[in-house]
Amino acid sequence: MQTLTQTLTITRPDDWHLHLRDGAALAAVLPDTARRFARAIVMPNLKPPVTTVAMAAAYRERIIAALSAGMNAPPPDRPKAGQANNMEPHSGEQPSPPREGRPGGVGHFTPLMTLYLTDNMPAAEIDAVKASGFVHGIKLYPAGATTNSDAGVSDLKKCAATLARMEQLGVPLLVHGEVTDPAVDIFDREAVFIDTVLMPLLRDFPALKVVLEHITTRDGIEFVRDSGVNVAGTLTAHHLLLNRNAIFAGGIRPHNYCLPVLKRESHRQALVAAAISGNPKFFLGTDSAPHGQSTKEAACGCAGCYTAHAGIELYAEAFEAVGALDKLEGFASFYGADYYGLPRNTDRITLLREAAAVPASLAYLDGDRLVPLRAGESVAWRLA
Ligand code: DOR
Ligand code: ZN
Repeated sequence: MQTLTQTLTITRPDDWHLHLRDGAALAAVLPDTARRFARAIVMPNLKPPVTTVAMAAAYRERIIAALSAGMNAPPPDRPKAGQANNMEPHSGEQPSPPREGRPGGVGHFTPLMTLYLTDNMPAAEIDAVKASGFVHGIKLYPAGATTNSDAGVSDLKKCAATLARMEQLGVPLLVHGEVTDPAVDIFDREAVFIDTVLMPLLRDFPALKVVLEHITTRDGIEFVRDSGVNVAGTLTAHHLLLNRNAIFAGGIRPHNYCLPVLKRESHRQALVAAAISGNPKFFLGTDSAPHGQSTKEAACGCAGCYTAHAGIELYAEAFEAVGALDKLEGFASFYGADYYGLPRNTDRITLLREAAAVPASLAYLDGDRLVPLRAGESVAWRLA
């Protein structure tokens, strides 16, 4: 019997929400994204957070340096292919040949920078953002909402002048949409945020570009769908593939814990429906968020799922599961660029419908490994 490998060729995608970290962690994770995506919106929640254009310029230089260091050699802490099972390189791939000059290869990745909004970011910083050409959004983390968000906004009223300037200049506000009030049930924090923060914000700044990031609820989908064209949303692969049972399947599963936390199945279905709808308000943002194994498997484990090792393949799975592979390209490669006013990519990637084993863990930091989504299992698609 002859079996034909199914292939899927699409315009190279972009990731409109990504955590790259810094230093050795950056060097370890960046090749996974750069192999698949042409560009990524890079989150600013470093320690200390990236709050000025000058800091974003320096961070961008570190990313570019890590890219060129990674072009011809794996990072020093990266094992070679063929070592023991728990020591495989990312994606279980063979080491790539030198990538210098390869169109669309690691060396061609472009980081799109963001700033971290604080109570006292001056409006003048937005003028610098606009002039920079490399900062593409301002991130709103409600103070204390998630990883490294302590310096986040305590009250949006304090940011009125800055938000007004963003509205004038068309600089997008990228929103972590959860209230932080511990009295609000964790599964309701997105819906309450929409009612108590986002709706009033858009009443005050009706033309402000707002991206509701990593939408996890039907409420979030409906809010974006029913708002003006200035409002869009990103969807992660893990929120499309998993519901909240995945956090508790047979025991507590820290590697499926992220924020906003996974929600019930009916919400997951609403996210999938939006992703495959062809509505250009919804586009790809992995929210791939690496944390060392020791900080995830802990009494108080960090929030974040690492998905960059299969950053487009996992979406292909989610779209295929509902017979909508034909909708993947718009979602992954067109709508985000259109929203941000950037050109669409012109080169292409090909995915093969072949199971790809995911290693139990990946090289990360000296003395700490990284456990990716699907660790020890497989993903149904692989990058050609
Ligand atoms: O799960 C998450 N991890 N959610 C976030 O908002 C932040 C991210 C991180 O930086 O680890
Ligand atoms: Zn994030």
